[in-house]
Amino acid sequence: MSQTLKAVRGTRDLLPPETELWNRIEATARAVFARYNFGEIRTPVFEDTALFARGVGEETDIVSKEMYTWEDRARAQSERPQSLTLRPENTAGVVRAYIEHKLGETGQLQKLYYIGPQFRRERPQKGRYRQFWQIGAEVIGPPSSGSESPLRDAEVLEMLATLLDELGISGWTLELNSVGSAADRARYNDVLRAALIPVEPRMCVDCQRRAVTNPLRVLDCKVPEDQPIIETLPKIFDSLGEDSRVHFSAVTAALDAAGVPYHLNPRLVRGLDYYTRTTFEFTHGGLSPQGASSPGTPILGAQNALLGGGRYDGLSEAIGGPKAPGIGFAMGLDRLVLTLQATELNQKAAPPQVDAYIAPLGEGVNAAALALARELRRAGLRVELGDGSFRLKKSFEAADKIARHIVILGEDEHRSGILTVKNFASGIQTKVPRAELAAHLASTASE
Ligand code: HAM
Repeated sequence: MSQTLKAVRGTRDLLPPETELWNRIEATARAVFARYNFGEIRTPVFEDTALFARGVGEETDIVSKEMYTWEDRARAQSERPQSLTLRPENTAGVVRAYIEHKLGETGQLQKLYYIGPQFRRERPQKGRYRQFWQIGAEVIGPPSSGSESPLRDAEVLEMLATLLDELGISGWTLELNSVGSAADRARYNDVLRAALIPVEPRMCVDCQRRAVTNPLRVLDCKVPEDQPIIETLPKIFDSLGEDSRVHFSAVTAALDAAGVPYHLNPRLVRGLDYYTRTTFEFTHGGLSPQGASSPGTPILGAQNALLGGGRYDGLSEAIGGPKAPGIGFAMGLDRLVLTLQATELNQKAAPPQVDAYIAPLGEGVNAAALALARELRRAGLRVELGDGSFRLKKSFEAADKIARHIVILGEDEHRSGILTVKNFASGIQTKVPRAELAAHLASTASE
């Protein structure tokens, strides 16, 4: 026997009924985005590798270690071989599209959302996959459209609070910081590098390396022994220029006015190079409740970020476009699903019930059964179609597992147009004229 093939490590199949929850989350997100006047953008799942190298940053973990990149052969003389990459995130692609379609020339603020798969070659674990889904949105435009206003930042954060509430996710924390302008960040890098020199020998090997290559990443360190040292390091806020400070206090003032709670986290510097000024994450540290497969353990494993985002005022220029400040976020759909599954244990496995199971009595009425199923489905009913090769007992057993009613269609029923219908909940079997069948099935659907 040949070896069985399986889904590749870090990827997975999503099956019903779980996909119902995925669809519900997506539908809720689309409805909220519509109320905030966002439109959908769909960009390709692969792009020129240079887009991510220049946009996300050559030195980041994503670009240096995690991308699926390949050399795409030329198929014709007119083509050149090209390095392509499966998108590890969608902000760079959206900004590329913004530039390519000259959306800035409209003078309007562009408010775009996306839902789709992203790819990172990370070490798979609970809440972390190599193909994962993001629901994200970006607000971008020329400075004259108001794209730099702190009100945009606050509105995006307020929208996220609303979306999480409407999804039924409670217990989230908004972690908020400002990483300042590119110049502020460079200044902080120098301050941090200098402060690390005397303490770095007492830190973990990763931090010793980061202290030299990329001091900001020291702030992401999770090693317990390093935490007291990190707490004593200079805070980024003290390196911010006046403009960045004023911008940030306007963001927090608007959040206070709207009643959106947040937690200032000076260590939140995020792992992508394009960020400027406001950065944020919504985290969820919830534990699985009693009755879950592993009660008391963190719902998201070690991955507590439901979503992350921030401003990227220089990204468009970094990839050859006009000045186009922007702010956005991406939420991990896989992580939203894990969180909701853990908190909605009872609803998890209940598949939707079928209104009617049509049981043709003999293969001679199979074709007529398809016509009947078409009629009922067109009337809006959820219908399962059996097969005439089944014995009546087998049809009853199959129907009882999934449907509210069984509709029996034999030669007699077909000729007379009077069908035999059994309601499983009440046990009542009745004769129903075909013209009244859809209404009959619908009226008893909620019994
Ligand atoms: P990010 O923080 O890299 O930001 O990812 C955003 C969210 O995607 C994370 O908070 C997490 O929920 C989810 N996520 C990331 N990696 C994985 C994974 N391997 N498995 C499962 N979920 C994952 C960005 O991607 C930015 N583009 C966000 C943004 C938009 N910033 C501005 N605009």
